[in-house]
Amino acid sequence: MATEVKSPNGNIVLNFTVENGRPTYTLSYKGREVVRPSHLGLELAKDKHASMGMDERDLMDGFVLDKEETSSFDDTWQPVWGETKDIRNHYNEYAATLSQRWLSAPPKAKNGARLQPRQHRRTILIRFRVYDDGIGFRYEFPQQPELNYFLIKEERSEFAMAGDHKAWWLPGDYDTQEQETQESKLSEIRGRFQEAVNWGNSSVAVFSPTGVQTSLQMKSEAIDIDGERRSLYINIHEAACLDYATMHLELVDAETKALTTQLQGNSNAYTPNPAPSDYPLPQPFTFVSHLTPDATGLKGCMQTPCETPWRTVMVSDDARDMLSNNLILNLNEPCKLEDTSWIHPTKYCGVWWEMIVGRGNWHYTNDFPSIKLDKIDWTKVKPNGTHKANNENVKRYIDFAAKNGLDQVLVEGWNVGWEDWANMWKRDVFDFVTPYPDFDIKMLNDYAHSKGVKLLMHHETSSSTQNYERHMEEAFNLMNKYGYDAVKTGYVGDIIPRGDHHYSQSMNNHYLHVVKEAAKHHIMVNAHEATRPTGICRTYPNLVGNESARGTEYEAFGGSRPDHTCILPFTRLQGGPMDYTPGIFVTKLSEWSNNPSWARITIAGSLALYLTMYSPLQMAADLPENYEKFDDAFQFIRDVACDWDDSRYLEAEPADYITVARKAKGTNNWFIGGKCDENGHKTNIKLDFLDKGRKYDCTIYADAKDAHYETNPQAYTITKKVVKAGDVLKLTEAPGGGFAVSLFAK
Ligand code: NOJ
Ligand code: CA
Repeated sequence: MATEVKSPNGNIVLNFTVENGRPTYTLSYKGREVVRPSHLGLELAKDKHASMGMDERDLMDGFVLDKEETSSFDDTWQPVWGETKDIRNHYNEYAATLSQRWLSAPPKAKNGARLQPRQHRRTILIRFRVYDDGIGFRYEFPQQPELNYFLIKEERSEFAMAGDHKAWWLPGDYDTQEQETQESKLSEIRGRFQEAVNWGNSSVAVFSPTGVQTSLQMKSEAIDIDGERRSLYINIHEAACLDYATMHLELVDAETKALTTQLQGNSNAYTPNPAPSDYPLPQPFTFVSHLTPDATGLKGCMQTPCETPWRTVMVSDDARDMLSNNLILNLNEPCKLEDTSWIHPTKYCGVWWEMIVGRGNWHYTNDFPSIKLDKIDWTKVKPNGTHKANNENVKRYIDFAAKNGLDQVLVEGWNVGWEDWANMWKRDVFDFVTPYPDFDIKMLNDYAHSKGVKLLMHHETSSSTQNYERHMEEAFNLMNKYGYDAVKTGYVGDIIPRGDHHYSQSMNNHYLHVVKEAAKHHIMVNAHEATRPTGICRTYPNLVGNESARGTEYEAFGGSRPDHTCILPFTRLQGGPMDYTPGIFVTKLSEWSNNPSWARITIAGSLALYLTMYSPLQMAADLPENYEKFDDAFQFIRDVACDWDDSRYLEAEPADYITVARKAKGTNNWFIGGKCDENGHKTNIKLDFLDKGRKYDCTIYADAKDAHYETNPQAYTITKKVVKAGDVLKLTEAPGGGFAVSLFAK
């Protein structure tokens, strides 16, 4: 008999049972199947344990259910920064205590006497939290004589989907998330896999032609729900990935089991998955967890007591619930920092885009074939004349930030080492404390501070992680000395020490180590190329941003599809904010550089991203001179908040459109943003969230009638009027466009 656990409003029902010794669960939503019978368990690396004298076996089968516990929880907490002031954490919990008991062969006695076989007993827990909009579950391993240290070969949590859903997916990869999202049926993943891989990225390691990343967004065929034909929106991700490897999902169907071919191309990691046929999977579309290995090929080194991250399945028949859902934050631990007063939302510009686009450089000289940091007297080196982190240029950005109310200026390329920084597998690549001769660190920080602006530090590590850890304390002390309170870190290229991967347990521990050390120095962290977030910003709110997806930089590397930003909030943003670096106004880069690439977005669409791509850290990425050409539109970037008391998702459909209204923290002002795909979108926004009886100065930044992301991206209109609660705004978004609205309470 299965145990049934319902969500507080009863919409979600979890069933759990132990079937032939294997933990098995199902999930339904309003009576519709979401997850068909799916097994849970872990494969352990037996060889190592055998050498420790243990009679090791997998945590897969042979379980009996010892104990069941249920409880309810309802609490409301306040994030340090976020989309809403309050977050309700309301769930029903179910914990199953499971044990394995077995006898091992009796040891041989010296005198030939018959000894008793040895008895073994091992206990784990599987804990479920059932919310109205999804579930989380995790494995817990209490400390016990028969389970003390163990190595994970693979986690085998199954998610058997009830149909051939449409999915928005990225190819599973141990090292990069910078691909364009694919939209296809589950059954089409294999056929599309090869072309979905971003082979040009500086670190690529795919592992299976049906391997995909999380967060994975899906949509079912329309089915009858509450008397209507509706689709289910289903999202699989993870929460609180701490001291554990990042999870991918591998779709295991009959064809995958028979898989013999290897992927072609630049993959140093691809090995066929350990035979799934060991564990027969009857369903047609079953995802099985696939963890990121470390340099040994193993997936986790565990010491009890410990637990896995939460595996999350969110589900609703309303796509907006995928975006307003707080399940992943709720499954993380409360804030562990005592003092958070130094953490603040930040709007910034930076010495960055002109280098990404190719009109300037991070490096200072062209005179050396390679650099040894301790062998060069930088004052004697011949400058190349294209180094952008120079005093004059940085001051220009500081002036721009001060004039426009931006808090910080990111400066990349300020420190020595950029001459041979990437893809050399060079250990001592940067020291993070020595500026190039044309970057006067004291003068520039003093200058910025005198204007009410801060500089934003940059630490590109080139993935040489031990080098960064060795220099980090000194680097953070330097930041404290000059008054920096935020750092953008980066992990370009394959991980050094070689063989490790960006999303392994050891690397996830590195990223967290950086965040914790930074907190001691009151430094906020924005990590690029690091592992995809899983809500740990609740626990460590100085982790204010991550890249961990294909960001605006790709607009300079060939561009991304117009629907890209209508997908990311459903996928990448589930675990935490993205430093997407929006705000490109001059989208045809050839207008000011030799770069033929272009951004597939209108100016009004660019403004919308400050609302639809939630982040407490927002960049105005374009050049000051480009913003000066469109100063009336830039007014929206000056005005828009980046911390919120309330957020209302008004409309949403993955890859089509997102419309959201947000109330700025500590004010009565609202901002609304709408972003759409290449097809355009019409919307009627009912202002029923405004205070009754109050008037608002409303400014609407919209696409002009003839605007189009390709042919006419800079055509916009700005309309001002006074509005009140209940009024309706009728707006038309151009192909690849959007709109932005500010509402200041009178
Ligand atoms: C990749 C980052 O995403 C980008 O923002 C940065 O400029 C370069 N690495 C150099 O660190
Ligand atoms: Ca990047």
